[in-house]
Amino acid sequence: MPMLSAYGTIRHRIVRRKGLSVIMDTIIATVAARVKTATSMVALTGAGVSAESGIPTFRGPEGLWQQYRPEDLATPQAFARDPRLVWEWYDWRRQKIAPASPNPAHEVLAHFEKIVPDFLLITQNIDGLHRLAGSRSLIEMHGSIWHVRCLAEGSVRENRAVPLGALPPRCPCGSLLRPDVVWFGESLSPDDQRRAFAAAESADVFLTIGTSALVQPAASLPIVAKDRGAFVVEINPVPTPISALVDAHLQGAAGVILPQILAAVAQH
Ligand code: OAD
Repeated sequence: MPMLSAYGTIRHRIVRRKGLSVIMDTIIATVAARVKTATSMVALTGAGVSAESGIPTFRGPEGLWQQYRPEDLATPQAFARDPRLVWEWYDWRRQKIAPASPNPAHEVLAHFEKIVPDFLLITQNIDGLHRLAGSRSLIEMHGSIWHVRCLAEGSVRENRAVPLGALPPRCPCGSLLRPDVVWFGESLSPDDQRRAFAAAESADVFLTIGTSALVQPAASLPIVAKDRGAFVVEINPVPTPISALVDAHLQGAAGVILPQILAAVAQH
């Protein structure tokens, strides 16, 4: 299968000068044809999908990890050391996320669930925007910023208070609450992980969208899908470590490219 890419090769740079839209349209038509005939499809999303909703990504020049250190804020050790500091960061992020709305990328992905017989959306995002857009066949593999977990009881409940009030928040039992998210050094839910890898292994089409493809185990999913014969498509404004492996790289914003794919599916 030849690799389709909207950047990178000499031929494509020449095309870009003549008009990048020609090659983009060709790749989009190819991807749309695959989507249209897929019986099983998986989409993996990362922070880039929510960038157009005004939520900062982690890496890159404007990314959160330019300003903050993950080891201070997103590890169990950081929480044990200073739960108040960790909660201040999550409370700030909740205040940024609360007014945000799903963008066209979230909406198209919710629509794919209606047109592809077996569709699973796997997100690394904890912002809840996929659910808000209507996605239900969804794994939030890094948890949800809107869920809190009691350290003593292990019970999880929804908490949408913005701002949270006294920090760190406490369970009615008196114990500390923590964000119900997966931090660095922690394991994903075994059930989520099993379902995600099983879906990647059986997908006809795998989309990887708005993720730097640097954090495991999510970063392995497109590789597993490719090894098992899926047509793998990446949507990202910049190349990532997996760009060389994918069948089609669409360089650009998810909120622009996904609606173009959906329009091409409708025409096909
Ligand atoms: P990153 O911040 O690492 O990557 C975001 C990706 O989105 C980058 O490759 C951007 O180029 C791309 N991007 C930016 N704007 C985009 C747009 N409009 N459309 C499409 N792509 C766009 O975020 P993740 O890959 O999600 O984990 O990061 C994975 C995990 O690392 C996160 O879940 C988080 C983080 O540290 C934890 O906090 C545990």
